[in-house]
Amino acid sequence: MFSSRRAFVCLFLVLQICSLQASSSLSSGKKVSGSDGVSKVHLILPHKANATATVPVNFTLTYPADPQITLAHPKPLVLLLNGASVESFWYSRVIERLAKQRFVVASSDYYRAFPYKTRVLPRPGCRQDAIVDVSARLINTLYDFIENVTNGDLGANREFDFLRRANLGQLLLLSHSLGAFVACDVLTGGCEADASGNGSCEGYTPVLNKDGRDVVIGVVAFEGYITDTKGKPKEIALPDGTFVLYLAGQYNKRARDAYRRTHKSDSCASYVSFHNMTHYGMNDFVSPPESHQVTPCAAPIPTDDPKFTTDAATQNAGVDLIADIINAAVSVREQGIKRAVDFLDSLADQPRVLEAIINTDCLRDHAHSTATSEEIDQE
Ligand SMILES: *[C@@H]1O[C@H](CO)[C@@H](O)[C@H](O)[C@H]1NC(C)=O
Ligand SMILES: *[C@@H]1O[C@H](CO)[C@@H](O)[C@H](O)[C@H]1NC(C)=O
Ligand SMILES: *[C@@H]1O[C@H](CO)[C@@H](O)[C@H](O)[C@H]1NC(C)=O
Ligand SMILES: *[C@@H]1O[C@H](CO)[C@@H](O)[C@H](O)[C@H]1NC(C)=O
Ligand SMILES: *[C@@H]1O[C@H](CO)[C@@H](O)[C@H](O)[C@H]1NC(C)=O
Repeated sequence: MFSSRRAFVCLFLVLQICSLQASSSLSSGKKVSGSDGVSKVHLILPHKANATATVPVNFTLTYPADPQITLAHPKPLVLLLNGASVESFWYSRVIERLAKQRFVVASSDYYRAFPYKTRVLPRPGCRQDAIVDVSARLINTLYDFIENVTNGDLGANREFDFLRRANLGQLLLLSHSLGAFVACDVLTGGCEADASGNGSCEGYTPVLNKDGRDVVIGVVAFEGYITDTKGKPKEIALPDGTFVLYLAGQYNKRARDAYRRTHKSDSCASYVSFHNMTHYGMNDFVSPPESHQVTPCAAPIPTDDPKFTTDAATQNAGVDLIADIINAAVSVREQGIKRAVDFLDSLADQPRVLEAIINTDCLRDHAHSTATSEEIDQE
């Protein structure tokens, strides 16, 4: 388990990840304004890094601003699992677009000590003692918090009522690069098998919903997947009723291979690759053009096309399309919405889409309810 993790990390990031950092804990909420139609709350949550250490981790909850919104079919809660050393700030556009589409999205900046100096990280001008990392255990931290809030332990304040706009019994992992590796590991039970209590699982335990099912219903994996020790995508089998949607920028061949190796096990997998996107194509960073979309503290990719350029309009349109695909996939899965099926089935016609293999039948088969009218929950 640990060696395959390292293979992944070397493959994409030419660095190694590990270790934890101790500190005291606290919990507080601060509301900040979001963009139009979207609100945000910042929190510092006590995160149990191991049996003896609890560290504070910054979380942001982004949600549809309209307090009148009541949904017949609330959408799954979404948790972002960042790419290595990519701060959650750089996912603002995709997160806010999802919130406008009535998702509640949790994101975090989990800084962990970074013991290895490598060729590419830490980048100059960035924190040298720690990087933004990812851990399966962040799922437990988020749900501990939710449980505290929904049990009223945090007092009589109504500050977190917006959580009820999400289906808290379902969690969709929105993941990028290293985060996608961890998300797929969670989905396929790797973290339950890993008893070491450190690394990227940190003693994660599955969160169960009212029906006794694992809350994790699926993974959106942008530019990441589980690899073997040689760095090749590993064959994985998805648990019943779950799905994975592989999205790809520059590593589209490997993501397609990951899709194929998931699909082969007759699972609910889909794959979309895009033109004009690098490994950081789901991030907001558009300037300077020669940055190749690499956010300021993240690792530059040695296999980048040196001629790659982008501009804000191209970048934003790509990020928006990613959010729209996620929204459509969830609409199909949760409600079998026909308009969303048609959108996904015609993705290959979109100029930005290089290739699209969407298993809409499988997604629809798992629809919990089929909407009798399409206006419910749709923009
Ligand atoms: C738990 O984490 C703390 C802080 O990183 C570390 O000092 C300690 O060694 C860890 N304990 C175990 C048992 O791994
Ligand atoms: C959380 O975010 C605040 C504001 O950006 C920052 O000052 C603080 O250092 C962060 N704390 C942690 C534990 O990351
Ligand atoms: C939840 O509440 C318990 C009991 O008050 C507290 O120990 C724990 O740190 C809280 N967890 C989160 C994530 O808020
Ligand atoms: C992880 O845990 C195992 C078993 O407890 C231990 O042998 C190993 O050194 C730990 N690794 C790290 C990076 O802390
Ligand atoms: C890709 O980007 C180039 C340069 O910005 C642009 O000319 C081209 O039209 C873009 N292609 C697509 C499919 O967006």
